[in-house]
Amino acid sequence: MNYINPSPIKAAITAVGAYVPEEKLTNADLEQIVDTNDEWIVARTGIRERRILKDPKKGTSFMAIMAAQEILKKSNLDPLEIDAVIVATITPDMNVAATAAYVASEIGATNAFAYDLQAACSGFLYGMSNASNMIACGRYKKVLLIGSDKMSSIIDYSDRATCIIFGDGAGGALFEPSDSGYGWEDEYLRSDGSGRMFLNIKGGGSLFPTSEKTLEGGMHNLYQDGKTVFKYAVSEMSNAVQQIIERNEIDREKISYLVPHQANKRIIDAIANRIGLPSNKIMSNIEYFGNTTAATLPLLLKDYESKLSPGNRLVFAAFGGGFTWGAAYLTWAY
Ligand code: UT7
Repeated sequence: MNYINPSPIKAAITAVGAYVPEEKLTNADLEQIVDTNDEWIVARTGIRERRILKDPKKGTSFMAIMAAQEILKKSNLDPLEIDAVIVATITPDMNVAATAAYVASEIGATNAFAYDLQAACSGFLYGMSNASNMIACGRYKKVLLIGSDKMSSIIDYSDRATCIIFGDGAGGALFEPSDSGYGWEDEYLRSDGSGRMFLNIKGGGSLFPTSEKTLEGGMHNLYQDGKTVFKYAVSEMSNAVQQIIERNEIDREKISYLVPHQANKRIIDAIANRIGLPSNKIMSNIEYFGNTTAATLPLLLKDYESKLSPGNRLVFAAFGGGFTWGAAYLTWAY
């Protein structure tokens, strides 16, 4: 495959926005729910607290809409100009009826087509590829990508190996044709379906439709074999980042930031170590939000936005259920 962008048009991120619920779930709170403790969680994951969308009447779309509205406001954008809305999520409001269609309607993007993208923790990374290539083909001018997950809706809070990691949140980015020459440079995306036994929700799909049996077995909750996922995440994300660095001949010194999916601080540290990047070049906020699945990458961009300037070199990496993973290279445009 020829990875060099064959199009004269390059897509750029021109605005970012995010939303996290007010309510915090701290390690001390979790100590009251399952047999765990703050010391173990911090040492094994780096997480101190997560945000939880408590209101049962609010789903993933609520957070996505909040993030989208921030983007509209910041970029002074008329929603009627948006060509497409993509929502990366594994916790759609409903299994059928794309959350993205609802988000588009609610923000007034009535000229847009909209769809959900399900690639778990790689959802935003894959979505950036979709959005960038839609712009690069020349047919679309404004693509809104949101990563939003209400992870608390699929977590078994009696499973201490899983519930300590995840939190709720949303973030997004607007993609437009670049007028500075900076933007989406390269992507290396992969998947391996044999990994689906290690990270999944088995119930409620066509293989195991919802039944008393699936409910009794907790098959509607997220299951993960943490150790196996950890191992694959470190090796595949490191390899993907190496591929991106080598084939774009990026001098490590000139990487402004690695933007890694926030699943576990030990995974992030292991990748940084393998790549040879110092901690001040690694974006991280896992301490405060935990793993928000499709929202981790845009939440990082929002948190670090004020530190970025045109031409900064960002290397993204993610790994998630499927398995899905990859890395991408973007030069910051504002
Ligand atoms: O976003 C993509 C999806 N997910 C991931 O990338 C997650 C990847 N995996 C992980 O982050 C880690 O595997 C976990 C954080 C889930 C678990 O950490 P670990 O270091 O792999 O722990 P472990 O499962 O090997 O368990 C070690 C010990 C066990 O006790 P024994 O058998 O050694 O006595 C567990 O029972 O720690 C115990 N343990 C806990 N102890 C206190 C497991 N969870 C907890 C807990 N609190 N919450």
